[in-house]
Amino acid sequence: MIGVILGTRPEIIKMSPVIRECERRGIDYFILHTGQHYSYEMDRLFFEELELPDPNYSLDVGSGTHASQTAKVMTGVEDVLLKESPDIVLVQGDTNTVMAGALAASKLHVRVGHIEAGLRSFNRWMPEEINRVLTDHISDYLFAPTETARENLLAEGISNQKICVTGNTVVDAIYQNLDIAKKKGNVLNDLDLEPREYFLVTAHRQENVDNRTRLKEILRGLEGVQKEFSLPVVFPVHPRTEKRIKELGIGVDGLNLTKPFGFLEFLQLESQARLVLTDSGGVQEETCVLGVPCATMRYDTERPETLNVGSNILVGADSGKILEGVRSIAAWKTGWENPYGDGIAGKMIVMVCAAARSQ
Ligand code: UD1
Ligand code: UDP
Repeated sequence: MIGVILGTRPEIIKMSPVIRECERRGIDYFILHTGQHYSYEMDRLFFEELELPDPNYSLDVGSGTHASQTAKVMTGVEDVLLKESPDIVLVQGDTNTVMAGALAASKLHVRVGHIEAGLRSFNRWMPEEINRVLTDHISDYLFAPTETARENLLAEGISNQKICVTGNTVVDAIYQNLDIAKKKGNVLNDLDLEPREYFLVTAHRQENVDNRTRLKEILRGLEGVQKEFSLPVVFPVHPRTEKRIKELGIGVDGLNLTKPFGFLEFLQLESQARLVLTDSGGVQEETCVLGVPCATMRYDTERPETLNVGSNILVGADSGKILEGVRSIAAWKTGWENPYGDGIAGKMIVMVCAAARSQ
């Protein structure tokens, strides 16, 4: 039996191809939702849109400090694993859910498969970097999306025998959903947008939005972009960012702030934007796969493949640099190669897990 552990928006999206493959093959599995994300538009909406089965277990851990959230996930996961005794658990990405789920499983000697293993920003200030490193080092199966990720793991002394380069399941998720997205209404019409005549923005990284100066710089940069290009800047606001904008009393002028979109709507918006500005990991990958330029509002990235193929640039969190980065896109060459695989990562991962069960 496979235990699929997830808890946040990107995990639901990137695990969806794995869940679909388990369903297709009639594999015995269960879904354990930690409840790290719980607002309708960060959680339930994706189960509905992607037609995923309801979780078998919901821990409802909710929000909290890193330690309290991690502790709640660990104890909840332990209870479920003691009851179910799966052959392997799968975790995806770099959230607290991932690290805590993997740690609880490994202490029970349940094998752990880490999807999206080997990513490194080499910036330990990010909570996600700590989660990635720890999870990789306690995992038995490391599903690396690219050769670069494999090399990062090898450089840390992880055995090549544990590593399987699969591509990223985000490619599967895009291929499986882009056509469905296009048929499901037209969000551009709803928002009165023309293809390539708007910018799309997301921002939620702790180091960007929990710091007043930095969040203000980002918002000023985005306002500058809107003024200079006279184009709509559509900004679906992550709940963390919404909370911080309110708490810190920052005024926002000229941006189209919206609720977070579902994946199908967001894919439509992403695929037809002139440029996407983001600090999201998944969005850097998706824009690369969709052929849309991306400016990342960070000083480093664990997705260097996007920089190498030329789909993404780092513009930091400085208003002037953000504007400069957007100006530079006129000179960009599109048509780069997708470094994230052919959209069969989910199938490969489930195949390896199925073989592991019989060992
Ligand atoms: C988490 C992950 C981050 C990932 C992101 C995906 C960690 C350390 N961080 O960040 O790596 O990129 O998810 O979106 O695991 N909130 C709600 N409703 C929700 C969820 C959160 O209102 O459904 C608000 C709460 O005020 C909460 C805050 O957002 O305190 C932050 O949530 P949390 O899960 O701690 O971190 P994220 O910023 O969502
Ligand atoms: N996303 C979405 N609706 C939105 C914004 C993002 O469905 O309004 C999707 C996006 O397509 C990507 C994922 O959310 O698949 C990225 O999640 P997030 O940025 O929260 O986390 P990260 O990837 O940085 O961990």
